[in-house]
Amino acid sequence: MAPKIAIVFYSMYGHIRTLAEAEKRGIEKAGGTVDLYQIPETLSQEVLTQMYAPGQPTDIPLLEDPATLEPYDGILMGIPTRYGNFPAQWRTFWDKTGAQWAKGSYHGKMAGLFITNATQGGGQESTALAAMSTLAHHGIIFVPSGYKHAFAQLSDVSEVRGGSAWGAGSFTAGDGSRLPSAKELEIAEIQGEQFYKTVAKFSG
Ligand SMILES: Cc1cc2nc3c(=O)[nH]c(=O)nc-3n(C[C@H](O)[C@H](O)[C@H](O)COP(=O)(O)O)c2cc1C
Repeated sequence: MAPKIAIVFYSMYGHIRTLAEAEKRGIEKAGGTVDLYQIPETLSQEVLTQMYAPGQPTDIPLLEDPATLEPYDGILMGIPTRYGNFPAQWRTFWDKTGAQWAKGSYHGKMAGLFITNATQGGGQESTALAAMSTLAHHGIIFVPSGYKHAFAQLSDVSEVRGGSAWGAGSFTAGDGSRLPSAKELEIAEIQGEQFYKTVAKFSG
């Protein structure tokens, strides 16, 4: 049976969403289908206005109930770095998963990560490392991207580029003006394709 895949992301300014769509293309290229969900906003409108946040798009459902993820075999998680870690919006979601933790409802699922942050050295890899503790407590199996399927892209240092063996990524610049590059999107697409194939291989 084909594995059931979800992409779950929080995106304040849209960069993570753009990567999520590239991940989706990769999954579809591998012959899979995927459901997209957004982590709900937790900040007040006053703070969001001060942060020039455009507001969450309405075309992707909000993941209010952690039970929604229980039927999925694989989950790709899109994380915009906050101080090298999950943003509070994501943490609020995890803080609602006590029942899943207690019942082991997420145990044995597979997860991949894709991450955006402002600057090189700003915490793309530390964000992935910080996520490991949460995945470990739930018994979720982390699927790294590795180098095998994106060696040319990951070993090319001729341009500014996010993404690593931990998963796809993009640098947004301090003011958010840098959009995901063609190479970063290519790496995200490769990750989606390979993630689907890995979940299909091991979840059957
Ligand atoms: C409170 C806050 C903390 C942040 N911390 C970091 C950081 O530690 N390193 C970094 O490079 N970028 C940091 N950023 C930039 C965000 O990671 C960036 O805005 C985000 O990845 C953009 O993704 P999005 O367009 O999907 O929201 C921070 C942004 C905010 C608002």
